Amino acid sequence: MRRPRRNRSSAAIRNLAQETTLTTNDLILPLFLLEGKNKKTEVDSMPGIFRLSEDLILKEIEECLNLGITGFDIFPVVDESYKDKLATKSYDPDFFYLKSLAKIKQAFPEAFVITDVAMDPYSSDGHDGIVENGQILNDETLEVLGKMSLAQAETGIDMIGPSDMMDFRVGYLRNVLDENGFQRTGIMSYTAKYASAFYGPFRDALNSAPKFGDKKTYQMNPANSEEALLEAQLDFQEGADILMVKPALAYLDIIKKLKENFSIPIAAYNVSGEYSMIKAAGEKGWLDPNATMLESLLSIKRAGTDMILTYFAKDAAKIISQ
Ligand code: PBG
Repeated sequence: MRRPRRNRSSAAIRNLAQETTLTTNDLILPLFLLEGKNKKTEVDSMPGIFRLSEDLILKEIEECLNLGITGFDIFPVVDESYKDKLATKSYDPDFFYLKSLAKIKQAFPEAFVITDVAMDPYSSDGHDGIVENGQILNDETLEVLGKMSLAQAETGIDMIGPSDMMDFRVGYLRNVLDENGFQRTGIMSYTAKYASAFYGPFRDALNSAPKFGDKKTYQMNPANSEEALLEAQLDFQEGADILMVKPALAYLDIIKKLKENFSIPIAAYNVSGEYSMIKAAGEKGWLDPNATMLESLLSIKRAGTDMILTYFAKDAAKIISQ
């Protein structure tokens, strides 16, 4: 008689028969960078996650490298006074984000540093593109994203992460990088980025919520899955090195679909709201936060991702590397 329980009968056979294993090689830690020195502020809606100034981010990265985490995605926290309609600070070479990226790469050449390409952290409208009469302009936005990407590439970072969802930005940015001698700078495209309520805590962290309306004219409808294939086909043709699905847990089917259809690595972004739910329930004692964290990350990997951007990277690495 076939008895599936035989392969579950001891820890040894369970480990031998295990199909998916999470390792620190799978993890990318998103970090929030503050201007200034010795500054550290906790994100209210993300317990345990801090906005850090450059000196403290350098320490954080060193600690992570020691834990075996080698991927970092760095987001700037931009003061309201720097914001304008055209996100001009995003490509000002004197702006703290760009200066810190260069310092980080100099200090840790072995770290894989990914940047964020989108207008929202720098935009007085809080949108990922240029706003005109309530509309988000596509092709005009590409020009800003091009300048932003080039300025970031010049700092020596490894990969840009366009998170804006404008049409044709991957092809446009690939051209800008290539024409300027940055053939080696990669593109991790936010390919299937859904208009999700799970981004709430991130917008608190960056104070980057839209000042009006929502992001539904550029981010994808959560009801759609075929459309993710279309976005992935375009990003693949346009030259993306990695395709990302975001959020992760409510979109495991999308991860699987992209993995089955494309021959380049797939990333998933286990977003802020997914982090906060587990942390909040853990604080209340309603569930075991570490066990639910590991189970969630494992499920994202099982669905087919090659890498996971997660605020849990450090917590998970501490447990995995034991
Ligand atoms: C914006 C951006 C967002 C996130 C990453 N880049 C939020 C948004 O689209 O409004 C969300 C990440 C998270 O929730 O952890 N370009």
